Amino acid sequence: MTGVTETGRMLRIQVLRFNPQSRRSRPHVQSFTLQETEGMTLFIALNEIRETQDPSLQFDFVCRAGICGSCGMLINGRPGLACRTLTINLDADIVLAPLPVFELIADLSVNTGKWMRAMSERLETWVHRGTEADLSRLEERMEPELAEQLYELDRCIECGCCVGACGTARMRDDFIGAVGLNKIARFRLDPRDDRDDAAYYQVVGDDDGVFGCMTLLACQDVCPKRLPLQTQIAYLRRRMLVRGARRSS
Ligand code: SF4
Ligand code: F3S
Ligand code: FES
Repeated sequence: MTGVTETGRMLRIQVLRFNPQSRRSRPHVQSFTLQETEGMTLFIALNEIRETQDPSLQFDFVCRAGICGSCGMLINGRPGLACRTLTINLDADIVLAPLPVFELIADLSVNTGKWMRAMSERLETWVHRGTEADLSRLEERMEPELAEQLYELDRCIECGCCVGACGTARMRDDFIGAVGLNKIARFRLDPRDDRDDAAYYQVVGDDDGVFGCMTLLACQDVCPKRLPLQTQIAYLRRRMLVRGARRSS
């Protein structure tokens, strides 16, 4: 039963549970009731449930401060970070489910790391230099405004919320998502990276890249780092369109 008590609200947290590693496990919703405390986050609530009610509940946390990106989950159907979500900002009835798209480990735990690594390897998200001698140029001075711009895009914590919110990512297994498009836009801006538009077109100039994005906008809505994802996607799309037009002329 949920509602207000003398000491605060009673919360009912419903968790979609399933362990694909266990042959006996079946997807089901399990309800937990607990007393809300001051400053309670979903991280605190889930830990309390695991400590006092069900030690088998699986979920991921490392930093508890919105930095590591491991606690992304669906909170009442919307991707978000559990460690940065105060229960006071939610109704007393809360529904939690794992992020879609990513491989399910169990319950609320998904393997975002595997997905992010595959995406990064595919897009080669590192600075490319033409020759070994060019490596010394990595230390070249950069305009502070440009460094600031790169830093802004580097704030991505690879939490996967933008991917979990994206309709295209749900339909296309190989879609690189806003996180991938943001990374490519970041390296496109970096003067130390030798790749030109032709090289970028190779990796993002198709339906699994910038032309698969249907401008659904959910990615930017849910990004906990408030990254300007739409601006980056629009920037890349313009560059790739110019490149595509050149190829076909
Ligand atoms: Fe998370 Fe935002 Fe990075 Fe997407 S772009 S992975 S939502 S921090
Ligand atoms: Fe998906 Fe964001 Fe594009 S939600 S479709 S990547 S605008
Ligand atoms: Fe690190 Fe939530 S535990 S972002």
